[in-house]
Amino acid sequence: MFPTPAETVNDILEELKKFSVMDPSNARSMLPSFYTSPEFLELEKDRIFRKDWVCLGHVSEIQNTGDFFTTELVDEQLIVSRGENGKVHVLSNVCRHRGNLVVQGKGNRRSFVCGYHAWTYDLDGTLKTAPLMNKVKNFDPSTCSLPQFNTEVWSNFIFVNLDGNAPPLAPQLPELQTILNNYHNEQRNLLFEEEVIWKTNWKNLSENFMEGYHLFSTHPKTLQPMTPTQLCKKVPGEKTWTAYRSYYDPNFPSRGPFHKDMTEDEQRNTVLFNLFPSFVAAVSANYTLYLCLRPKGAGNVAVRWGVTSFKDTLSDPEVINYLNLCKEFFEEDKEKLETLQISQNTRYFRGGPLAPGDLEGTIWDFFLYMESKLNE
Ligand code: FES
Ligand SMILES: [Fe+2]
Repeated sequence: MFPTPAETVNDILEELKKFSVMDPSNARSMLPSFYTSPEFLELEKDRIFRKDWVCLGHVSEIQNTGDFFTTELVDEQLIVSRGENGKVHVLSNVCRHRGNLVVQGKGNRRSFVCGYHAWTYDLDGTLKTAPLMNKVKNFDPSTCSLPQFNTEVWSNFIFVNLDGNAPPLAPQLPELQTILNNYHNEQRNLLFEEEVIWKTNWKNLSENFMEGYHLFSTHPKTLQPMTPTQLCKKVPGEKTWTAYRSYYDPNFPSRGPFHKDMTEDEQRNTVLFNLFPSFVAAVSANYTLYLCLRPKGAGNVAVRWGVTSFKDTLSDPEVINYLNLCKEFFEEDKEKLETLQISQNTRYFRGGPLAPGDLEGTIWDFFLYMESKLNE
């Protein structure tokens, strides 16, 4: 067996194109360079992350007027802020004077002051003051606001669309919204959030989060006793998302308290969905675990993750147990995904068969989404 030459971006696109006309019963995993090629990542940045809706975090991270956090999406520096009148803004964090970062980190401000020459912006990006610039003849401050990006809050999560051309998000998700209605994400409190980097491609993590096949093998003591691989059921997805329900083992204790709207069936499963490209969440009766993924080079992903619940305090022992469980199974996943990233540098592996639809059909849906966005 001889190694094949390194794949080009075109080879990867051709493979995706084959998938788009293939019978799903022949579903296969992708070429390894799909996850390792820096050139392919550049295409993803242009055709996916700059064009589609990408989740940046939870609205409760900016609860009060003046709250903000900074973040980066495909090299674009961003400020996510809560303006006067409660509006959520996503602004460019690049100063309109000579282009320095305006602010860093997170906190609460009455305005954003660039540290370089003290140009000062309102919470919505409007330039308020620019020292000594009144001496410049044609200076027009109204042309020097920080650009505001297209922003939408869906289910209490903040989404941005960098190129401003994506159609509104919520109307694209009626089916998903129906599935999630009785879980009432909008009434859940943010209890915990943090950002970490995993040494794996962003797609390795979203695919892993979305398939129940690995539960019995990667999480034999953490997740399998609760949500066994054998009971996973895929939900028919749509163009913009995919989902499955992980049903609880009949011997596993009930996971209440339940919202009064929840059906008996909903009380016995967790809905896991991927809102393409990179927002994944597991919505159960009492907790929502979510991950906002952003690529950081082909081999790294920024994971801004958190937990929301009807409970309102992090010190509740049940919440502490749940968080510890999440951290434990994250470690199990991380180990597998970081070795996967290393092995994907191979020139011998050319993709293998995927498990049945209930277990890995979500990965197939994701490939079809990728094909529709990349092969323009
Ligand atoms: S670069 Fe921001 S004030 Fe000069
Ligand atoms: Fe996992």
